[in-house]
Amino acid sequence: MCYKIALNFEDGVTRFIGCNSGEKVLDAAYRAKINLPMDCSDGVCGTCKCRAESGNYDLGDDYIEDALSADEAEGGLVLTCQMKPTSDCVLSVPTTSLACKTGQQRFAATVATIAPHNDAAIVLELDVDGGGAAPVFLSGQYVNIAVPGSGQSRSYSFSTVPGAGRIGFLIKKIPGGVMSTWLERAEIGERLDITGPLGSFYLREVKRPLLLIAGGTGLAPFLSMLEGLAQDKSGDRIHLIYGVTRDLDLVLVEEIEAYARRLPNFSYSTVVAEEASSHPRKGWVTQHMPAELLNGGDVDVYLCGPPPMVDAVRRHFDETGVKPNSFHYEKFTPNTATGAGA
Ligand SMILES: Cc1cc2nc3c(=O)[nH]c(=O)nc-3n(C[C@H](O)[C@H](O)[C@H](O)COP(=O)(O)OP(=O)(O)OC[C@H]3O[C@@H](n4cnc5c(N)ncnc54)[C@H](O)[C@@H]3O)c2cc1C
Ligand code: FES
Repeated sequence: MCYKIALNFEDGVTRFIGCNSGEKVLDAAYRAKINLPMDCSDGVCGTCKCRAESGNYDLGDDYIEDALSADEAEGGLVLTCQMKPTSDCVLSVPTTSLACKTGQQRFAATVATIAPHNDAAIVLELDVDGGGAAPVFLSGQYVNIAVPGSGQSRSYSFSTVPGAGRIGFLIKKIPGGVMSTWLERAEIGERLDITGPLGSFYLREVKRPLLLIAGGTGLAPFLSMLEGLAQDKSGDRIHLIYGVTRDLDLVLVEEIEAYARRLPNFSYSTVVAEEASSHPRKGWVTQHMPAELLNGGDVDVYLCGPPPMVDAVRRHFDETGVKPNSFHYEKFTPNTATGAGA
């Protein structure tokens, strides 16, 4: 049995390694030429401490309390020199990928489909070069795509589920934008250079109701998460609020509707900001967030969209005094700067 272990570094880089049944994570990482922090490798110094974000594992019984206290273990901390996974796991490593002598993965892909939606967004699907082996990622993460001929790259969140044959993205059409302009004349079969997966915005283990809030093409990572949840036949309570500026920005609603049929406890609402809209829910997403969706704080919130919207929702939580159990967000900051948080 080989388990898939995602190592998320502080600089947003994610590397996946295989860990055999009975093998310690530190040893598996070393085999993959990733030097995770360590000193004693004996459960004594605590240098190899990481946070297990999800998955099942045996902590090991050969470490001392000074290296990992019972409270720390209870809170999800692990020693990679002792821990033996018993399922796929996600670990947060409290240092950069560079410090562990690794870095971003690079791969190439070819354009398979370019489908415009409402003159507002484009669904771009790519075949990954090298026999279709899709890159491994966590639902919610993104890649950087080099825009051919521009010397620039742009970040895009996967809208498809990990392990699907093709990788897909939902891209906002911005008049005159570097990527948007390239997409207008791009042809099927063109090659793209990609780096990633990246980012700490990904779906954690679901333990309580989920509130997903998307702004515009910030819908992309939620399509990936919803497909994963549907494939896992999730019965969890999930609500998606999908807010856009103009009526025509509401794209792929039929796909969301399909999830409402596949996921028994999934519901969604759409919100349109523009004054002239005849949409039944007008204004900002914060105006259409009834208290029951926050479940008295017993809720995990995931928020993705343009920076002003993310900031407005964060302010809203501060003002209402409801503190969700966890709050993860991704800002679609224009150009290179990233903005994920938790
Ligand atoms: C982590 C991360 C993930 C992202 N994922 C996605 C995604 O899945 N889908 C997606 O559509 N975008 C996503 N973005 C945003 C994306 O990377 C680009 O910024 C966006 O697509 C614009 O690229 P462009 O080359 O078309 O325009 P640019 O050439 O970058 O911009 C042209 C002009 O438009 C302005 N502009 C840029 N973005 C916007 C905007 N949203 N609204 C109004 N004006 C704007 C710029 O400031 C500039 O003046 C993400 C960003 C980050 C940081
Ligand atoms: S390396 Fe010292 S406790 Fe793991």
